Amino acid sequence: MKPITINPGLCIGCGKCVEDCVSEKLGIVNGKAQFMYERCIQCGHCFAICPMGAVSMTAYENVEDIKPLNMSEFDSDKLLLAMKSRRSVRQFRNKEVSDEMIEKIIEAGRYCPTGTNAQDFSFTVVRDTLPELEKEAVKFFRLGQKAATPFSGYIKNMTIDEHFFFKGAPVVIVVSGKGDTSACLASSYMELMAESMGLGVLYSGFFVAAAKLNRKISAMLELEKGHSPVTTLVIGWPDVEYKRIPPRNKAKVNYK
Ligand SMILES: Cc1cc2nc3c(=O)[nH]c(=O)nc-3n(C[C@H](O)[C@H](O)[C@H](O)COP(=O)(O)O)c2cc1C
Repeated sequence: MKPITINPGLCIGCGKCVEDCVSEKLGIVNGKAQFMYERCIQCGHCFAICPMGAVSMTAYENVEDIKPLNMSEFDSDKLLLAMKSRRSVRQFRNKEVSDEMIEKIIEAGRYCPTGTNAQDFSFTVVRDTLPELEKEAVKFFRLGQKAATPFSGYIKNMTIDEHFFFKGAPVVIVVSGKGDTSACLASSYMELMAESMGLGVLYSGFFVAAAKLNRKISAMLELEKGHSPVTTLVIGWPDVEYKRIPPRNKAKVNYK
């Protein structure tokens, strides 16, 4: 079945879908829009733009007709302040994060833009196996501290305690992918979503290094075939409050 079908009874031939199709897969035939080729990236712009609701995306189940929000309705100054107010949280309360919150965080991640709409990432939610995973990573890093590893210089004088990676947080989401870009973008969406619900987030780059370098740890994660860990979001209820926003470097901007 074609990934895009257009109901000729509803189509008014306005051509909006044809104009907005990035892959040039649509055309107007006898006054009606038609899907012309077998393959497209299924970005859904035709579905989103059609004023008549004539477009169906056959590869997706339960497609809902949800009205988009006009992003300009957000107060941009408030949004910028929220983004600047985000901090890496390394102190967490002993409190669970609900399934609904985890699902909402992942829902935000899966809606980030991806090149050719590949959606080439997956999410591993670690809760039950968190202690054993952290134990293994701690063991590996303690050994690595003494040996010449890619991270030994940086962690040389650090205390690798039993919560070195996950800081006592109740949940960790490992975002993995075939490449890095999409998984990074998804992670950024997820981080902001978590923070908007009052949660705190830490990216554990150290854990990503451990998972990449240690076969036992990567095996424990049971990632999708061909995927590598890209980010690890450590998520929980913050036990810390920041009173001001620390400064950052001036943006290096070049106008040509
Ligand atoms: C990709 C990435 C990996 C990171 N890995 C770690 C980590 O393993 N441990 C840690 O304590 N902080 C980690 N951080 C947090 C950074 O140290 C932090 O973002 C930076 O110091 C700026 O502080 P802020 O996030 O509060 O603005 C990581 C951040 C990023 C973006």
